[in-house]
Amino acid sequence: MGDRETWRWGETLYQPCHTVTPSPRHRVILLEGGIMARLGVNIDHIATVRQARGVMYPDPVTAAGIVELAGADGIVCHLREDRRHIQDRDLRLLKEVVQTRLNLEMAATEEMIRIALATKPDIVTLVPEKREELTTEGGLDVIKSHQPLKKGVQRLQKGGIPVSLFVDPRKDQIKASEEVGANSIEIHTGHYSDAKNAAEADEELKKILDAVAEASHRNLQIAAGHGLNYVNVQRIAEIREIEELNIGHSIIARAVLVGLDRAVREMIALIKK
Ligand code: PXP
Repeated sequence: MGDRETWRWGETLYQPCHTVTPSPRHRVILLEGGIMARLGVNIDHIATVRQARGVMYPDPVTAAGIVELAGADGIVCHLREDRRHIQDRDLRLLKEVVQTRLNLEMAATEEMIRIALATKPDIVTLVPEKREELTTEGGLDVIKSHQPLKKGVQRLQKGGIPVSLFVDPRKDQIKASEEVGANSIEIHTGHYSDAKNAAEADEELKKILDAVAEASHRNLQIAAGHGLNYVNVQRIAEIREIEELNIGHSIIARAVLVGLDRAVREMIALIKK
């Protein structure tokens, strides 16, 4: 095995894979001797920038193509009840153009279930949603919402859509996720990401490790996400049982900064032509 650090950091994050070994549960990519989780890129905040002006750009559909060309394994978008970023039109077009895997995050409401059944994304991730929140603030309470979630999961699966549940790293929620028939769970990494110091991060990481251990001996595939960024992702990426990381805000935020120099130069070139 190679030293994971040599291939995980910096520009080596998206190196082409050397060997792809399909297995019943995982697609395991061997990368210079290491194992890499799939990366799903959440493009909601491309739409946030567009909606701030009510114009046609930047278009999350164009962004999805660029994300795929850069080597991501999937596109994630969240159609919220208030349509603050992704619009119904975006979802329809993403379904048409995404060539990897389209993961639709949504609340388990009647409206969203109907939209999902009509659109047929590759997977639905059910999340809790509050109108006033800035972003998804916590995992689903699968224990409390057992019956409605079970019904929602069954309806989506009957429509041919696998379902993931976004849950806090808690054993009881993971057990309940299996009981309602979910195909996968996505472990909420928000508290780990928001940790104020190293001790707090260690404590949150421990909860994630315990949750992963619980999920891996149940019939559940494991993803993780929320708040992951260029500083904190590595410790999560090193957990082998986590098959997929879903990351949005930090990637779009970095794109704004790494792309700013070029964007300014292009405008200067037009003005000074
Ligand atoms: N996974 C889920 C279930 C989410 O709700 C979100 C945010 O939409 C993400 C991952 C991505 O989180 P972030 O934008 O903080 O990377």
